[in-house]
Amino acid sequence: MSPSSAPLLRVRGLARRFGRRTVFEQVSFDLARGEIVSLVGPSGCGKSTLLRAIAGLHGHAEGSVLLEQQLQRGPSDRIGVIFQEPRLLPWLSVADNIAFAAGPRQGHDPRVDTLLAEVGLSGVRDALPKQLSGGMAQRVALARGLFAEPDLLLLDEPFSAVDAITRSRLQRVLLALAHAHGTTILLVTHDLDEALHLSDRVLLLSPPGDDLPGRIAREIHVDAPRPRNLRDPAMDALRDTLLDGIASSPI
Ligand SMILES: Nc1ncnc2c1ncn2[C@@H]1O[C@H](COP(=O)(O)OP(=O)(O)OP(=O)(O)O)[C@@H](O)[C@H]1O
Ligand SMILES: [Mg+2]
Repeated sequence: MSPSSAPLLRVRGLARRFGRRTVFEQVSFDLARGEIVSLVGPSGCGKSTLLRAIAGLHGHAEGSVLLEQQLQRGPSDRIGVIFQEPRLLPWLSVADNIAFAAGPRQGHDPRVDTLLAEVGLSGVRDALPKQLSGGMAQRVALARGLFAEPDLLLLDEPFSAVDAITRSRLQRVLLALAHAHGTTILLVTHDLDEALHLSDRVLLLSPPGDDLPGRIAREIHVDAPRPRNLRDPAMDALRDTLLDGIASSPI
């Protein structure tokens, strides 16, 4: 395979065990450069654990994670992570939070203003996190996640704590940012409509049963053009496929 056709991310045989309990095993999939892929599955099936394993956080998982054919052995600034809550440092300004990867007070970095404009927050560069709404704080977290210009951004239910209107706005911001920066996205979400709205592909992680570890049980391709119409009958069929997959899971 030539380097240009190789996937950006290649996950092979990934497994995570806590003591004698296996959360998931034999997880293998690729992400092409620029692809947006969602990971769905019932609560507790191991989505966050899988995301952390790909990010190289919290110890060693079995299997391999290759980024452009390079084996990852721990956290990398080429892989950014955004969590459900913004996790901003309360004593630093918005600008200093965004540029934190460059050092503690680097908010004057010119890339900060570009990112603030992209997430629609130019007016709050000197504000402290406590002065922001939840949706604004999550937009700052998005800007911080992109500051290091990662090839891959992993997002763990990033919009679940905001209202429906803000959520829809943040989804649009994420799509625009991914497009503008050429960032590949792996997004964990509970919301099948969010997955169908945003993704090129959706992976369904099945939960571990009594003797059965979690695995990628289903993969669907979402070929509909963007902007997507979730009322499109083709979307209903994809939603049904995902729901069937969840219903036939062992839990
Ligand atoms: N550090 C740990 N030690 C022991 N068990 C853990 C640890 N981290 C996660 N687990 C277990 O792994 C399983 C999967 O947890 P995880 O948080 O990945 O699920 P999830 O799919 O993200 O759930 P949710 O949708 O509720 O966020 C759970 O049973 C959890 O208790
Ligand atoms: Mg989780």
